[in-house]
Order: sequence, then C-alpha cells, then structure tokens
Amino acid sequence: MTDQAEKLRQVIDNLKLKQAVNRVLAPAAPVKRNARVITVTSGKGGVGKTNITINLAIALSEQGQRVIILDADFGLANIDVLFGIVPQYTLLDVIKNKKNILEVLTEGPRNTKFISGGSGVEDLVKLDRQQIARFVENMSLLDKLADIIIVDTGAGLSENVMSFVAAADEVLLVTTPEPTSITDAYALIKMVSNRDRTKTIRVIVNRSESSSEANDVLNKLVLVADRFLGIKLEPAGYILHDESVVKAVKQQQPFSIVYPKSQAARNIREISDKLIQRGDSNQQNRNNGVRGFLSRLVGFMKV
Ligand SMILES: Nc1ncnc2c1ncn2[C@@H]1O[C@H](COP(=O)(O)OP(=O)(O)OP(=O)(O)O)[C@@H](O)[C@H]1O
Ligand SMILES: [Mg+2]
Repeated sequence: MTDQAEKLRQVIDNLKLKQAVNRVLAPAAPVKRNARVITVTSGKGGVGKTNITINLAIALSEQGQRVIILDADFGLANIDVLFGIVPQYTLLDVIKNKKNILEVLTEGPRNTKFISGGSGVEDLVKLDRQQIARFVENMSLLDKLADIIIVDTGAGLSENVMSFVAAADEVLLVTTPEPTSITDAYALIKMVSNRDRTKTIRVIVNRSESSSEANDVLNKLVLVADRFLGIKLEPAGYILHDESVVKAVKQQQPFSIVYPKSQAARNIREISDKLIQRGDSNQQNRNNGVRGFLSRLVGFMKV
C-alpha cells in the first residue's frame, strides 16, 4: 500500500471513529409520542357533543396541548358553524387526493386547529387498498402536529359512529340527566362492550341542574355498566345547564371564549385538567396514534 493510500485509510478510520463516538454521546432525540385520539360521542343527539368538543379543545390548548379537532359528523358537520369559520377545504379533498393534510387544517381560536369532515366517510369506503394506504399515510402526519386529536361524531348507534368509537383509543361519552339520553348512552356502551371490553370510556354529564344530580347519573351508569356489561366506566366530569352556552351558540362563538367566567367554562376546564392528568398517568399515549386509529377505522368500515 502506498503512503498516500495508508494515510487515506487512517483518515477514514478516524472519521468512522468520530462518527461512532458522536453517535454514543449525542443526546437522544426526544421521543415524540403519538397523538391521543379521543372520540366524543353520545347515544342520543343534541346532548352537547360539539360544544364540548370545541370548548374542551380550547381548554386543552390553553394548557399547552396541541389540539386538532376532526369533525366526523358527516351528516351535519357543524364545528365550523360553532366556530363561525368557513373552512376552505374538507377531509374529502384529502380522501380524493386533491389536497394534503396541511391544506385542510383550518385555524380555530386559541391556537386550535380543525378539519372539516365534509361528506367524507362514504367516500372512504369506496377507496381501494392502495388509496386507503395513501390516505392513512397522509393523515398520520397529524401525529407530528398534535398531542391530542378530538373527533366529534354524529349521535347515535349507527355503524359509522360505532366504527369511530371502536377505533378510538379513548371515548368521551356525553349524556344529559334525561332518562332517554341515559338509556341511549347505555345502549352505546353495550355496543362497545360487544366489540371491546378494554376500551376506556369516560362519561360526561351535560346540562345537569346540580353537581349532585350529575354525580347520581355518573354513579348509576358506572354501576350498571360494571354489573351488567363488565365495562369499567370512568366519570370524566359534568357541565351544568348554563344559559351562557345557549347565548354563545347564537353568537357562533365558543362559550369558554365569550364567557370565560361562566359555570360551563369552569366545568370544561375541570374536565380538561382531569383529561391531561389521566393521559399522563395511564398508558393511553402508547398507542399507534392517528395511523392506528385510521387503520382500525377503515378496517371496521370495510366489514
Ligand atoms: N351545558 C349546557 N347548558 C345549556 N345549554 C346547552 C348546554 N350544552 C348544550 N346546550 C344546548 O344544546 C344545544 C346542542 O348542543 P350541541 O350542538 O353541542 O349538541 P350535539 O350533541 O353536538 O348535537 P348533534 O347530536 O346534533 O351533533 C346547544 O345549541 C345549546 O343550545
Ligand atoms: Mg354535534
């Protein structure tokens, strides 16, 4: 070997060594957890899901969480109506591969973002495997952009809504103290329990007259779900009936922004605090994020 070649070899060896040392000494890149996917649902309609979704998103965002709302109420999408914002594009544009995920993210108040569903879900089932894979791949960018994704579903016990519930890592089930709302909530829990008894279902009682009325409803639901379905429900809190909510809806503004001192806003902040604590203490974030959620979702919908 010539002198020159020998020198070159030494330089390369040194370089390799340096790289190896650097690799060992370099601080580990912070591990980004996948986003928590929380589906907000109810048995009966009109119980306050959309208002809870929006105001919870705002409360979580004010606590430093990066929150994206996915409006999955494809029949009557109304996150945009309650925000008073008209989105330019919807999820449909992503499904049709016309826009990328960044282009369909609309800015909401307090640093929240939302994606309007459009009439997307029907089109999702029409896609072939390759198109679905591309869609899921595209959407999984959301894991990098959000800590929490809140999915607002339509009401009811339909297959589509059930698919969203079954696919989510965490479920927030909303009921009012009305007996019809409670029995429909129970029916939904039963449907979930038929598919998966391990899912975390948290219950919110909305529009109750008092905290004791709300706690009665929560306790009863927890008891019957445990006894008859073998499902452990977690009380997530309550929101009292509050005229500020009605007024804010008419103004097309989130109540926690226009009436931050209202009872409803205080209640939502309590729920948000609890969600953050629970999320940190349990293993929820060890999931597959948006990718896992959507893969399960399209799997359920194809059946
Ligand atoms: N805590 C509350 N106090 C008073 N009124 C409330 C409260 N929560 C909700 N409402 C009323 O209920 C209406 C329905 O709320 P919202 O649209 O959030 O329900 P939803 O469950 O999303 O309905 P849908 O099933 O049609 O999607 C609101 O417009 C408001 O008038
Ligand atoms: Mg709604």
